[in-house]
Amino acid sequence: MARYNKKKSSGSLGAVALIVLAAMVLSSVIGVAMGNTETGKTPAPAPSNTVTPSDVPSGNNGETVPQNGADPEPAKEPTAKEKALSRQDFTIDPATGMAKEIKIVDDNYTILVNRTHPLAQSYKPDDMVTVKYVVSGVGKKGETDQLRKVAAEAFEKMVEAAAEQEINIKMRTGFRSYEYQKDRLYDPEVKNKGQAEADKATARPGHSEHQTGLALDVGGESQKYALSYEFGDTKEGKWVAEHCHEFGFIIRYVDGTKKEPGKLTGYVFEPWHIRYVGVDVATEMYELGGGKLTYEEYLGILD
Ligand code: DAL
Ligand code: ZN
Repeated sequence: MARYNKKKSSGSLGAVALIVLAAMVLSSVIGVAMGNTETGKTPAPAPSNTVTPSDVPSGNNGETVPQNGADPEPAKEPTAKEKALSRQDFTIDPATGMAKEIKIVDDNYTILVNRTHPLAQSYKPDDMVTVKYVVSGVGKKGETDQLRKVAAEAFEKMVEAAAEQEINIKMRTGFRSYEYQKDRLYDPEVKNKGQAEADKATARPGHSEHQTGLALDVGGESQKYALSYEFGDTKEGKWVAEHCHEFGFIIRYVDGTKKEPGKLTGYVFEPWHIRYVGVDVATEMYELGGGKLTYEEYLGILD
């Protein structure tokens, strides 16, 4: 059976091959007569003044057509570094010394704000909510009791997780406007201590992370929720240092000491000042540096 089939099969293949060959010859003859270049014949070169296909979009408005019929590549997600610098216009306005504008997008919670990366004077997040666990409203119209929603929710989760372990923490100050930073903090500090001393612990207006609505100062019950360097040695401060990344926060000025400002951040150490950057970034930073890596180093933005 096998032999018979093979023979029959090879006879059929021979017949098919003959038909195909005949068709090819015929097609070639017709193709040449019609000027068809798809028959394998080299087309005559285009006259030099003819527009070649690479000069013009190929009937699709210039968009790239996927070669294999697959969907076009989705737009690439910006990196943490790109988002950290996500200002529409980072030109410094000489009149104010501030960035002119920043781009407000839902997830730009990785934005870098420091001595060299200021916010626009007018910048105020438009998605702020009042935080549940707050010491008292000390700012104008309770504004300092607020944070951007994403940070407020993360902080509330953190407070509740801490409370389950009998660690009681609350926010003291959240959002601070440019005006608040200037009139209530920086200017009085300069008046009392002089600019050099003021600059060690207090950001100039427009340069405070508090203006992002993503940073807050946290106090613990054992110190009556006061802000002090010793907070870092209390059970609440230790808990915050160890766990805040699980909720998307980092302690920000970790290269400074009580007296000496950090070389990268420019501020003395503040164990109470935490900044929301999202769980992924905060956790990666914690794993890389055990809580000692500055955000500037993580982003590779050291200027
Ligand atoms: N104390 C920090 C640096 C601020 O003023 O934002
Ligand atoms: Zn702070």
